[in-house]
Amino acid sequence: MHITMIGTGYVGLVSGAGLADFGMQVICVDKNVDRIQGLNRGEIPFYEPGLEEFVERNVKNGRLSFTTDLKMAVENSLVIFVAVGTPDDGQGKTDLSQVEDVAKRLAQAIDEYKVIVMKSTVPVGTNRWLKEMIQANLKKDITVDVVSNPEFLREGSAIEDFMRPNRVVLGSDSAQALAVVKDIYRVLYLIEAPFVSTNLETAELIKYASNAFLATKISFINEVANICEKVGADVHDVARAMGLDKRIGPKFLHSGPGYGGSCFPKDTLAFADLGKTLGSPARIVEAVIAVNRNQRARMITKIENAIGPLDGKVVGVLGLTFKPNTSDVRESPALDIVQALLRKGAQIRAYDPAGMDEFQKVVNDEKISYWKNAYEAARGAEALVFLTEWNEFRNLDLKKLKEALAKPVVLDLRNIYEPERVTDLGFRYMGVGRGTAV
Ligand code: UGA
Repeated sequence: MHITMIGTGYVGLVSGAGLADFGMQVICVDKNVDRIQGLNRGEIPFYEPGLEEFVERNVKNGRLSFTTDLKMAVENSLVIFVAVGTPDDGQGKTDLSQVEDVAKRLAQAIDEYKVIVMKSTVPVGTNRWLKEMIQANLKKDITVDVVSNPEFLREGSAIEDFMRPNRVVLGSDSAQALAVVKDIYRVLYLIEAPFVSTNLETAELIKYASNAFLATKISFINEVANICEKVGADVHDVARAMGLDKRIGPKFLHSGPGYGGSCFPKDTLAFADLGKTLGSPARIVEAVIAVNRNQRARMITKIENAIGPLDGKVVGVLGLTFKPNTSDVRESPALDIVQALLRKGAQIRAYDPAGMDEFQKVVNDEKISYWKNAYEAARGAEALVFLTEWNEFRNLDLKKLKEALAKPVVLDLRNIYEPERVTDLGFRYMGVGRGTAV
């Protein structure tokens, strides 16, 4: 089976390499010439654990290649996956310009039956529009089918999520197209991955509802954490005990500075916008968004309350990415928090294992300096703020950190450490929802 994958971001590159690993012949297309040249030299444009080796293995076995030539790729493929960016347009709506561009180029390039599989997260109704739009602009009297196949991979564990998905969702009106795509994923039957076959709109909605629900869990536990601080309770124990109820489950109940990344913030906004447009307000998700925004603001207040007015103060920051094991800083809580600290006059000494280059592209301020490890970032700082739970932050030499800091103050905004372990060494310690109100 020959497949074209349009878009070489997280979803496109991981899925392209994954499908090649399933035994398909995959051509990845991107109009970004630099990116394709880099990929042809074996350079992965972002950090994702294991991806470089995964891509290299599939290039070497001859099943994965990269090109900017969409027409050539499409001519050689029965199935065309679309995995282009669908960012927020800044007004809470989804910017579909990349999808529209692909639709136009596909209409030009297609001259026989093709199955188009949408992996990008797109608003409900987009796939039906895509089919009509391509169909109307084809040069010949042929049919195309569209399948909605939302992706559920997480950055940082994207390969595992692609190769061992919790479920595969396929939406289409065409039994033929569904059969073709099921055949592509047939190796997943061996590991008994559940398949959900449904219509286009349902598949689109499954993606938004899933992300909105996960975001709801996070905002919920963050509100619980805030109450914990007021009453002297420990959110860690509350979440653990809640999670032991199988109906609730333990995942996505970690309180912190609020969710970030390229998905939850934009997908919750799009879901709320959909509800509003349809006259069925998504009130829970609207509250989830407000709580998340407020949570970031609370973290800034927490830091101020801990060390006093920030003007002229040096603050050490550990972790800049929106989560560990990625170089991605899109909508990272660290962006809002660090920029607020800078505005309030603080000097920032920052360290992140993979995200410093990306962070610098967005935050260009002479009051922020970047260091090559946690101890250097801590040097001379009045407080050390943990913003991402990278594994290498879990077992730092706390005595060495104390010596480096000007004042032994730790704001553990990801609840990485057990409070007693840190306070026993003479630190002032503040987590999120761990009994101490600051
Ligand atoms: C998320 C979903 O988990 C994927 O299933 C989905 O495919 C993807 O979005 C997408 O739509 O493409 P991702 O954004 O990579 O994946 O990251 P998550 O692991 O879900 O984390 C999102 C944010 O929530 C991070 O900022 C993380 O720190 C935060 N989070 C997560 C919490 O604050 N608490 C938690 O308990 C869990």
